[in-house]
Amino acid sequence: MKIRKMRKTEKQVFLKMEKKELYPWLSIRALEDRLWEKALPYILEVDGSIIGGVVWEEYDVFPNGKSIIDLAAIFILNSFRGQGYGKKLFEKSLALAKESLNAIAIHIETVGQEAFYRKVLPSDYVEMTINVGGTMVTFFAANITGL
Ligand SMILES: CC(C)(COP(=O)(O)OP(=O)(O)OC[C@H]1O[C@@H](n2cnc3c(N)ncnc32)[C@H](O)[C@@H]1OP(=O)(O)O)[C@@H](O)C(=O)NCCC(=O)NCCS
Repeated sequence: MKIRKMRKTEKQVFLKMEKKELYPWLSIRALEDRLWEKALPYILEVDGSIIGGVVWEEYDVFPNGKSIIDLAAIFILNSFRGQGYGKKLFEKSLALAKESLNAIAIHIETVGQEAFYRKVLPSDYVEMTINVGGTMVTFFAANITGL
């Protein structure tokens, strides 16, 4: 198993998988537009095949150069879920993104994957859930300075 930065040549495979596993309602073009300059895509490879991906992006930056980063996407191919890959991908990519973007905190929102984030977030975090037009959206903010 290997977790590494996505290569440019892997972009189309990554986008197709992201659409299938996470954002079926978005077009490939829309997902591609989200991969902007400050977005860091990482992939998880098992036996030479990509089975998961994650995108961290800069959310806010302070005068001292420290930043808050946002988890724009994380996905593991359906048949590989429940085996610890999501956790490994989250933790390793967070360490890499923290280093690259000088991050001190993270921001995540989710509809339905709260249990996963409670397992993988560092202990110093807060969460809140609000009803947005009938959809329960959970927001997490975590301090990552201790990582
Ligand atoms: C969310 C996702 C990336 C998790 O990947 P995964 O490889 O299945 O997760 P892991 O096996 O590493 O799970 C890590 C821990 O979270 C728990 N967990 C993961 N998903 C869970 C769920 N839906 N409900 C309860 N617990 C869950 C696991 O039991 C495990 O706990 P443990 O450490 O005590 O064993 C994967 O389910 C996925 O790709 N989902 C579709 C895309 C998506 O919804 N992404 C998140 C958008 S906000």
